[in-house]
Amino acid sequence: MSSSTTNIESVLHEERVFPPAASFSEAAHISSPADYERLRAEAADAPEEFWARMAGELHWFKKWDTVLKWDAPHAEWFAGGKTNVSYNCLDRHLETWRRNKAAIIWEGEPGEQRTLTYLQLHREVCRFANVLRRMGVREGDRVALYLPLVPELAIAMLACARIGATHSIIFGGFSATAIIDRVNDAGCRVVVTADGGWRRGAEVKLKETVDEALKGTPTVEHCIVVRRTGSRVNMTAGRDHWWHELAETVSADCPAAELDSEHPLFILYTSGTTGKPKGILHTTAGYLLWAHLTTKWVFDLKDEDTYWCTADIGWVTGHSYVVYGPLSNGATTLMYEGAPNWPEPDRFWRIIERHRVNIFYTAPTAIRAFIKWGEQWVSKHDLSSLRLLGTVGEPINPEAWMWYREVVGGGRCPIVDTWWQTETGGIMISPLPGATPTKPGSATKPLPGIEVDIMTKTGEAVTAAGQGGYLVIKRPWPSMLRTIWGDDARYREAYWSEIDGVYFAGDGARRDRDGYYWIMGRVDDVINVSGHRLGTMEIESALVSHEAVAEAAVVARPDELKGSGIVAFVTLEGSRETSDALKEELRRHVAKEIGALARPDEIRFTDALPKTRSGKIMRRLLREIASSGAVSGDTTTLEDFSVLEKLRAQEEE
Ligand code: WT7
Repeated sequence: MSSSTTNIESVLHEERVFPPAASFSEAAHISSPADYERLRAEAADAPEEFWARMAGELHWFKKWDTVLKWDAPHAEWFAGGKTNVSYNCLDRHLETWRRNKAAIIWEGEPGEQRTLTYLQLHREVCRFANVLRRMGVREGDRVALYLPLVPELAIAMLACARIGATHSIIFGGFSATAIIDRVNDAGCRVVVTADGGWRRGAEVKLKETVDEALKGTPTVEHCIVVRRTGSRVNMTAGRDHWWHELAETVSADCPAAELDSEHPLFILYTSGTTGKPKGILHTTAGYLLWAHLTTKWVFDLKDEDTYWCTADIGWVTGHSYVVYGPLSNGATTLMYEGAPNWPEPDRFWRIIERHRVNIFYTAPTAIRAFIKWGEQWVSKHDLSSLRLLGTVGEPINPEAWMWYREVVGGGRCPIVDTWWQTETGGIMISPLPGATPTKPGSATKPLPGIEVDIMTKTGEAVTAAGQGGYLVIKRPWPSMLRTIWGDDARYREAYWSEIDGVYFAGDGARRDRDGYYWIMGRVDDVINVSGHRLGTMEIESALVSHEAVAEAAVVARPDELKGSGIVAFVTLEGSRETSDALKEELRRHVAKEIGALARPDEIRFTDALPKTRSGKIMRRLLREIASSGAVSGDTTTLEDFSVLEKLRAQEEE
């Protein structure tokens, strides 16, 4: 680690402040604290006028009648308006000089490169939209996309948006069981996949996984397969079709459908505290407006920028900040298929140098890995093209923030630490890089138009500086989730019932004397592993589905690299013996049921789990045992103390 970062660990109370450089501010879209305050005040004083003015940045086939209809907790934004996300991301740029500007620059993990201009991308999107129509897909139908990070994924998204089909992207690391749950919940008619993709030099056989999944998905009529790796796959006659063969049979002309503002754009599944994953529903106009504005404001995006968000499109970050936000702004967005350490730990820096990337957006978990791999991998590349850095997914520790600033940003690039969620659709709390002085570890302040606060469980505002509480959002915003697909009761319950009248984000936070927000992490039983949310409940269900397991409780423990590691406490069926082989088998079982992401780092067998008298597992105690080996918290509600004794004794073994 560089000498500039060795003293950071000792800074317990973060006092450092980094104002943007004057040269950065002067050229920025929003260039001073006063500009920011003006926008904020405008939005707070007359929200509907503010949003109406902002919506003027999009193309409308027909203007809206009403900016917001709010029948809590249901919002309709820009009702009566007609627009199309694909049109906004493509067609409108074709009328400008951008028609031959690079829209997507793509690198495959093995090293291939492809560039698609706006004109070329438009043509591919139109073709695939016609392919989907030929497969019988109509407005409102759902299409599942299970693909590697290849241009065809962006093409398929935009093609769905073009004809009003609702896409549901399933991260390529998920298992067949996870696909079945998601495809059935949404009732998808078509699945788009690839033969495989590349990850750390190995082929991920996506089509094989889909073949297994499609045995359990009665609504799927067709499966369209991108040829990516060229390896052999089984094609079921009548059901499976090659993308490139279908694309040859259709025209490259496909006018964008004029869709209602509230037309469903996509469903994206995310973990909740209980039960199956929640299908978060986002709609057309409001989502696009906020993706568009936040990309422009937070990344200070200019036409000459080459912009790279490293997220997989299987997560919301990829939806909003690899595809929709950048393309709506007419930007050049970079996509890289593979791992950051393939073939060597400098792949990202190599890409930045090769393509002269100006804006780079990644996750704290990646930054911690870079720190571990060593500064030498970074410093051997010329990163002088970078002018702005961003992070998302989990709290970033100040020492990682400083390393990012010094080693990657050369001390000259502002860092935007962006807080948001799958549910919020776009960034909610973040510095504006030309206006907001930053503090390492703080996401700083809410964006204009966003009203956040910190509250107690009973809904009182926490006003004292530095005091922790629940992060809430007090006003509807255009890109808010509209509901949970097929389960509106759960929507009300999960987000609008915890604290009366406000959106409950599930994160703890505090606000300092300067009004800066510091996110403290999840307050519910959701584990954030490498910036991805996993419900403890899902992992527990996967464990219990194994015939040897009677009961399981899953908790997080701090992990230097991943943010959180997963520890599973497991009780076995009466006749079963504990063994290391069984531990391995259970870890594998979870990976198969959900995906490798959810594989427990550690399995601990126990005779019983600590429970309250009403039978609730006391995860808080297990969390303490998993992270420190001891229990210091309140145990008065514990039913059977001997359980704790045994768990502790086991720890000492
Ligand atoms: C949860 C949302 C939003 C895209 C990636 C994750 C945590 C997100 C930050 C940040 C601290 C953060 C929160 C949030 N989170 N960004 N900048 N600082 N925590 O999307 O899977 O919906 O997860 O990620 O806990 O609730 P997601």
